[in-house]
Amino acid sequence: MKRYSAVAMVILLVYVINKLPEMIEFNRNDLNNYIASSAYMQADGTGRISVVKTPLDRRVLGRETTNHGDKRGDSVDGRKVIRIVKWTPPEKNWVRLLGRKRFEKCQTRVPCEYVPQSAYNTSDIVMINAFYLRYQRDMPKFRFPRQKWLFYHTEAPRSQRFKFLQRYHDAFNLTLTYSSDADIVKPYGICLPTRANIVRNASSITPYIRKIYGREADSAPWLFSQLKPYTSFDIAAGKSRLVAWMASDCTATNKRTDYVALLQRHIQVDVYGKCGNLTCLPKFSAACEKLLRSYKFYLAFENSLCPEYITEKVWMRLRDGVVVPVVLGSAEYEKYLPKHSYIDIRDFSSPRHLADYLKLLDKNDTLYNEYFEWRNDYTSHTGTPGLTSDCQICRYANENIDKTEIAPNIAEFWSFEKCTSPKAFYNGVADIISSSDIK
Ligand SMILES: *[C@@H]1O[C@H](CO)[C@@H](O)[C@H](O)[C@H]1NC(C)=O
Ligand SMILES: *[C@@H]1O[C@H](CO)[C@@H](O)[C@H](O)[C@H]1NC(C)=O
Ligand SMILES: *[C@@H]1O[C@H](CO)[C@@H](O)[C@H](O)[C@H]1NC(C)=O
Ligand SMILES: *[C@@H]1O[C@H](CO)[C@@H](O)[C@H](O)[C@H]1NC(C)=O
Ligand SMILES: *[C@@H]1O[C@H](CO)[C@@H](O)[C@H](O)[C@H]1NC(C)=O
Repeated sequence: MKRYSAVAMVILLVYVINKLPEMIEFNRNDLNNYIASSAYMQADGTGRISVVKTPLDRRVLGRETTNHGDKRGDSVDGRKVIRIVKWTPPEKNWVRLLGRKRFEKCQTRVPCEYVPQSAYNTSDIVMINAFYLRYQRDMPKFRFPRQKWLFYHTEAPRSQRFKFLQRYHDAFNLTLTYSSDADIVKPYGICLPTRANIVRNASSITPYIRKIYGREADSAPWLFSQLKPYTSFDIAAGKSRLVAWMASDCTATNKRTDYVALLQRHIQVDVYGKCGNLTCLPKFSAACEKLLRSYKFYLAFENSLCPEYITEKVWMRLRDGVVVPVVLGSAEYEKYLPKHSYIDIRDFSSPRHLADYLKLLDKNDTLYNEYFEWRNDYTSHTGTPGLTSDCQICRYANENIDKTEIAPNIAEFWSFEKCTSPKAFYNGVADIISSSDIK
């Protein structure tokens, strides 16, 4: 009898050893279900985030440890995977992004993978959108020492509406914004040299390109191959219209509408969208784009006066390279855009002076066409060609996998205080606006 029970023990033992991986997997699913449960999602109401100091429970997570590097995460084909979770409101379903598909072309040593929110405990990077921070009731309530929280926001900092950031001053490890002091920089657009030597020589926009593309900036052949040879510089010929503006937010606090109104006293401005009585619909359609291309100038006026905030309004016009964007914003445009590719309203002491200059260019095709000579050296793009934000994140994670990183106080980093007040902005540019009753 004793012998039988010994044999039974051995059989049981072998069985258990064989089944162990499955059991661990089972427990992992259990864990995921647990985290996905509403109990987990419920608020603790305090907004406090507790950092979990104890190692992860190994019985539950199997291979998981709190060590950095090697032992982290799952193994796929013998390689580790960096697991990224996008922390989103429950109603935002981004299931179709899950998996490794979006990282396939990233050429990183360690592949990345988007995992569902339910896999939070096993994730390496947790992406949290600035807008979503407001709904703090649904924030993760704890964090593991190896996890990096990534603050991301694709728009300009907001004034009052972003007060809630103060609650998260020590929450983040990484930042992703359009601004070049973010860890991961995702601009609305970029201009790239068409010849390698412009990148290698210290042109003023080179540091920016390097920051975004890294080492690829020096070698990537696609950087230099996208420009269609520019055959005709007579852009002025065949233009039937003068100045266009299209906007939907007519009460932007930066007073751009006031500036347009002042400009209209001196030059014809065709206003499309809600702020005018002309329509260009559907927005971004081929027909509408064609209409805009028939103008000589486009008022690419930003709705925020924040550093480096250059949006698609500008990039779309430069991408086409047939309309001169007139820019209103507080970026140092010369660091991002080719020389003589745009007109900055701050270079004129009043809207009338700007109007006079536009009229001068309108009369003189030679002068107008000079605004397109940059096309010999650069191409302009919306977004960052050859580089998705998924790959930017994955690359960054690869390069900094073992580092402890702490983001600056996010309320200061993404503070509206960094932006220029209209009063300061229009001083010497449109004094009527500057001296009117605004902050
Ligand atoms: C996920 O991690 C947290 C923090 O350690 C823990 O409270 C929770 O129980 C974990 N989930 C499970 C099922 O272990
Ligand atoms: C870059 O530098 C090289 C060598 O100094 C020079 O020959 C070339 O003209 C420069 N190119 C540009 C675009 O400035
Ligand atoms: C559109 O606005 C312009 C300028 O404000 C005005 O002169 C014109 O009469 C308006 N047209 C229509 C159809 O309302
Ligand atoms: C246009 O501008 C150029 C450059 O300043 C000048 O040489 C030319 O005479 C001007 N043409 C006319 C028609 O004014
Ligand atoms: C992430 O940031 C927190 C808060 O500043 C910090 O305590 C933690 O060490 C950081 N983690 C990593 C992996 O960098």
